[in-house]
Amino acid sequence: MNPLDEIRKRRTFAIISHPDAGKTTITEKLLLYGNQIQMAGTVKGKKSGRHATSDWMEMEKERGISVTTSVMQFPYREAMVNLLDTPGHADFSEDTYRTLTAVDAALMVIDAAKGVEERTIKLMEVCRLRDTPILTFINKLDRDVREPIEVLDEIEDVLKIECAPVTWPIGMGKSFKGVYNLLRDTTVLYQSGQGHAIQAVREIKGLDNPELDAAVGSYADELREMLELVRGASHEFDLERFLAGKLTPVFFGTALGNFGVDHMLDGLVEWAPPPQPRAAIERIVDASEPKFTGFVFKIQANMDPKHRDRVAFMRICSGRYEKGIKLKQCRTGKDMRIADALTFLAGERENVEEAFAGDIIGLHNHGTIQIGDTFTEGEALQFTGIPHFAPELFRRVVLRDPLKSKQLHKGLTQLAEEGATQVFFPLRNNDVILGAVGTLQFDVVAHRLKHEYGVECAYDVVNVATARWVEAANERELEAFRAKAYDNLSIDGAGHLTYLAPTRVNLSLAEERHPEIRFNETREI
Ligand code: G4P
Repeated sequence: MNPLDEIRKRRTFAIISHPDAGKTTITEKLLLYGNQIQMAGTVKGKKSGRHATSDWMEMEKERGISVTTSVMQFPYREAMVNLLDTPGHADFSEDTYRTLTAVDAALMVIDAAKGVEERTIKLMEVCRLRDTPILTFINKLDRDVREPIEVLDEIEDVLKIECAPVTWPIGMGKSFKGVYNLLRDTTVLYQSGQGHAIQAVREIKGLDNPELDAAVGSYADELREMLELVRGASHEFDLERFLAGKLTPVFFGTALGNFGVDHMLDGLVEWAPPPQPRAAIERIVDASEPKFTGFVFKIQANMDPKHRDRVAFMRICSGRYEKGIKLKQCRTGKDMRIADALTFLAGERENVEEAFAGDIIGLHNHGTIQIGDTFTEGEALQFTGIPHFAPELFRRVVLRDPLKSKQLHKGLTQLAEEGATQVFFPLRNNDVILGAVGTLQFDVVAHRLKHEYGVECAYDVVNVATARWVEAANERELEAFRAKAYDNLSIDGAGHLTYLAPTRVNLSLAEERHPEIRFNETREI
């Protein structure tokens, strides 16, 4: 097939949700539709590892598994879908955020009983940085949940995105009857107990069809009334606004009951964009360009000491990967021949020797690749928009053997370059402070420092609530600020001046007092 046709078929997306909203269950059903598994419920033993914090065996198992589930590629209808995993439970980390910089669309999953939850708000903020188009699936309609219209209101209010219901639920809980599709004017009926397989569904055309009354009884009239209200109060689907990240098409269903997930998947392949152009410092790169370009958004270390390799995950931005391709790592100027990249078309692993713009490939790497690295067929290029995110959790490192301070610095600098953690060195003392967005990141760093750098460390609490990278229009203003805020300033692993705020209130005050200073929540790598 022509590479351009392959590229146009790609739909690369990730799921954003709060833990327990149903991401894993939906992933299982998506793979069922992609024909990758015969029976849902076989994706991963999530229970085994998901609350692990200090059980290393469990963690290694979980990490080992998650290399292969980091990306799931499957064909659906005429499209080739790439689903990128966004670690969500104990393994929530900066990787989760950065993965969202490598997709062209996102699926937001909301628990219909809980509405908009805190993690979803944060992940939406990250999607906003690139105006990523968002589809929404409102899950768990097989339970007694909140009024759907109320949930839509909450999404619009809290997340500041217009909702365009594509389907509307009929009943809920034990009385969940199915959904009405506003665009197709058909009702799709739900049958419980069919969650493990693809169901043969019954569809009724037309809202005024008497068959609808026969099938759902008095719910039919309720639905008709409700829809009048819904049509008046919500937005109509508009492709342009969706692509601009301003409006989200909304689907209702139950992932557990495997109902409605396919409606969302149909919407995804029909409306979500193919691989998008990508900004580099030098120019904009179009996905259809024949030459290969890509960037690294995540590095995953194998926790097993016997297999100390790391895998760098690269999003292909243009062109095609072919086994044996010679690529230039733009940061170092080095050429490398790539013969054993991992590709992720489940089930056909051995046949996949090529990959296209929109796809993710995994490169084996022994510490030479960093997050944010750009690879090309020779052109000097640096993709932008792969940031560090302000950490939300902080620890002070306590070194067990003070003579190992040099190794500690070396290890932490490298681990920070890989994106495993962020490191800060306060101006006023010799402390070493780590920053992360998920607690497991600290455990991973302690484990890797011990096994890869021979440094044993513990952590202490530290009075830091949040961090901001600071900038000013000129050096003089920055110097003045440096003198005034000295006690709260640090240098990060890459040499940037950072304000470590003891409280959020303190940060607001600093921002008010110093309008000449920019306090940035992200920093380009
Ligand atoms: P997550 O990856 O977003 O954290 O969520 P996950 O899919 O693991 O789902 C969290 C819990 O919600 C699971 O129950 C799952 O079975 C349940 N769930 C997901 N979708 C639906 C749905 O549509 N309806 C209902 N009623 N429940 C749903 P659990 O008891 O925590 O785990 P398990 O024992 O079922 O695996």
